[in-house]
Amino acid sequence: MGIKQSLKQQVQKSTLVWGSYQTVKAQVNRLRTAAFYRYDAGRSWRYMIWRPTNDARWALSSELLFQYHKLEKGLVMPGKPRLFGTDPVRATMALMRRWEAAGHPTSDPIYRGACATVSCYRAGLQARGLERESPALAQIDKFLSERQSTLAVDPMTTPVPLAAPGTAAAGSWQAFEALSVARRSVRDFSSQTVPAELVQEAVRVAALSPSACNRQPNKVVLIEGREEIDRALAFQNGNRGFGHKVPLLAVLVVDSTGYFDGSERNQAYVDGGLFAMSLMFALRALGLGSCSLNWCVTPATDRAFRKLGHVKDQETIMMMLAIGYPPEAVTVPLSPRRHADDVIRWSKGGRA
Ligand SMILES: Cc1cc2nc3c(=O)[nH]c(=O)nc-3n(C[C@H](O)[C@H](O)[C@H](O)COP(=O)(O)O)c2cc1C
Repeated sequence: MGIKQSLKQQVQKSTLVWGSYQTVKAQVNRLRTAAFYRYDAGRSWRYMIWRPTNDARWALSSELLFQYHKLEKGLVMPGKPRLFGTDPVRATMALMRRWEAAGHPTSDPIYRGACATVSCYRAGLQARGLERESPALAQIDKFLSERQSTLAVDPMTTPVPLAAPGTAAAGSWQAFEALSVARRSVRDFSSQTVPAELVQEAVRVAALSPSACNRQPNKVVLIEGREEIDRALAFQNGNRGFGHKVPLLAVLVVDSTGYFDGSERNQAYVDGGLFAMSLMFALRALGLGSCSLNWCVTPATDRAFRKLGHVKDQETIMMMLAIGYPPEAVTVPLSPRRHADDVIRWSKGGRA
């Protein structure tokens, strides 16, 4: 037996000494956790803040996606047409100019998606009779006329109809691809009640998701009733224009007491994210639609939301999820994806 093991056996003999050892160990772990968070803070400081001077393709394409997604989203909002997107369209055009000046390829699907979205936004304003209200109209028209050649190549349109799940031919790959295509963020819902059994069934299957050491830390808090949903959504910044149509709201949380120390500080988000993805697939396969709703909030908002009583103190909020039946003929943004070659990097030259 090694020295460490025999020492441990001696210590375990006395309940008092063993208890004190455990208390000290927990305190040391807390201090180590503080050091881990300091490391994370340093990385966030260095890499996470957008800078107007960073024209690297990855950072610029992320900013572009962020901005033009607001235009795509505006084009699928239910209800009375109203002017939207003036700041995002200006930001998108400015980012595209930076992209071009930096010499990045204009064949990139993210850049082409931006160009198409500005064009569809322009058409959307016209279709809604809002073009005269837009203070950016002249800028947009000039911008688009200078980019006719990009727009002419294999034109993209947004929005597009939501695909139905389960239309694939037999075969697991086709079925998976069809479900991936059909699982889109839906931002309009019919008033049909979502049956509790369907949610139960979706959660049962989503629970098959992997989690670190199979601890399965996920919980789904369901909120129903117009007033209660609206009260909860008032704390979330991404549901404007469609929040009032959400018939069932889930708060996806992870119980943080399932993790042993600070080295697992990000595990909740990994386990929670994997579960959330499966849940969205499951809901879609059952004919429902969903929309993830970010929980990128300040500590003050997080605390205030907790006062509504839906979430326990030890539960970390991953995100909210709007759930409901999509209305017939609902549309979703095109939301072009990066090319797989842009996502894969064979390390150190690899097979590339
Ligand atoms: C964690 C997370 C948070 C999101 N938050 C919001 C949100 O607050 N409001 C919203 O309308 N969409 C939200 N979305 C949906 C994204 O905009 C959407 O997933 C993305 O544009 C890709 O489109 P798709 O889901 O239709 O494929 C969120 C997605 C994720 C994964």
